[in-house]
Amino acid sequence: MGFEVIGTGMYVPGEPVTNTQLTRVMDTSDEWIHQRSGIRQRHFAAEGQGVSDMAFEATKRALEAARIGPKDIDYILFATMTPDYVFPGSGAVLGGKLGINVPALDIRQQCGAMLYGLQLIDGLIKSGVAKTILFIGAEAHAGFMPWDDWDILEGKTDRKQTPEQRERANKHRAVAVLFGDGAGAMVFRATDRDAGLIAAKVHSDGTYVDELLIPGCGFKTRPYCQPRLYEEMLYVPYMNGKEVFKFAVTTLPKCARQLCEESKTPIEKIDWFLAHQANARINDYVREQLDVPVEKMPMNIDRYGNTSAGTLPILIDECTRDGKLKKGDLTMMFALGAGMHWGCALVRW
Ligand SMILES: CC(C)(COP(=O)(O)OP(=O)(O)OC[C@H]1O[C@@H](n2cnc3c(N)ncnc32)[C@H](O)[C@@H]1OP(=O)(O)O)[C@@H](O)C(=O)NCCC(=O)NCCS
Repeated sequence: MGFEVIGTGMYVPGEPVTNTQLTRVMDTSDEWIHQRSGIRQRHFAAEGQGVSDMAFEATKRALEAARIGPKDIDYILFATMTPDYVFPGSGAVLGGKLGINVPALDIRQQCGAMLYGLQLIDGLIKSGVAKTILFIGAEAHAGFMPWDDWDILEGKTDRKQTPEQRERANKHRAVAVLFGDGAGAMVFRATDRDAGLIAAKVHSDGTYVDELLIPGCGFKTRPYCQPRLYEEMLYVPYMNGKEVFKFAVTTLPKCARQLCEESKTPIEKIDWFLAHQANARINDYVREQLDVPVEKMPMNIDRYGNTSAGTLPILIDECTRDGKLKKGDLTMMFALGAGMHWGCALVRW
């Protein structure tokens, strides 16, 4: 017994925001951003639009592709680090929007969530707990962007940004330019076909917590939400970019090689390398280390930026719809995110 993906869907909010548009609220440039990350544009969730709203749109498309209705889903797995509420989880909120009251489990492995999700899906299906699982990866990073001047960014006003607001945005420009919002949905179903998870390796290392995190708005402070956290901008992620880059390019090729060795899978037999889209330079480096041809690693970071947990489901939806991913294909997925959490998985389509 394994799983197969019977439908996928994605949703990104509003119009794309280009690198050049970002110069309206901070000192940056298309050249700086594109050279270092491969990103040209991203989308941002609107005020009042949460991950459950974006997930609902992506789910409608995935269910349509799978030719099933919400009532056919018997489990929801929702991966996000930017939930609608601190509690409850966004999976239950989505279930409510879909009109179903099945088990709903939120997971928060940030950009590494898909790998953990695959292990859970495999376990739930093999143990007979679920037959049809809706997996969501969705993020609304707009809430932690370091500017307040959305009207200026969107070109809706002649108002000028104050020097103080520009300084606040500039303080976090290296992180802010990397992220974008969106949702990807995948419907997994139990199958007797030779498909599903072949092998996975997932890891975490909490000693790296200070290298990539949102330092404030957790429950170590009383109250957890207070004006000081806004003043000191502790709601914006801190990232030691160089350290995260180094960590990714050393651990990911090693993880992929080990997985191939342990599962006796020659790397050249893999049809597609589906990589988390955090930085095109990280993916290029991993691809070169593994000696993988460029056409085997599809990328879409130029259009969406890093959508954290949304990234792999969005990429997979695009690769399914454009006919790349086909039944029987062998894929390797890999990703790394805050925690650190990282891993890779071999999946037969
Ligand atoms: C974030 C990242 C692109 C930054 O690149 P970098 O070369 O390390 O850049 P630095 O932060 O050292 O900054 C270099 C210079 O660019 C400037 N800079 C930072 N952000 C900028 C921006 N958006 N636009 C223009 N200049 C910027 C800095 O102020 C610095 O200027 P200085 O040399 O005058 O002090 C890079 O470290 C990276 O990709 N890391 C991995 C991140 C990642 O994958 N995270 C996702 C994990 S899920």
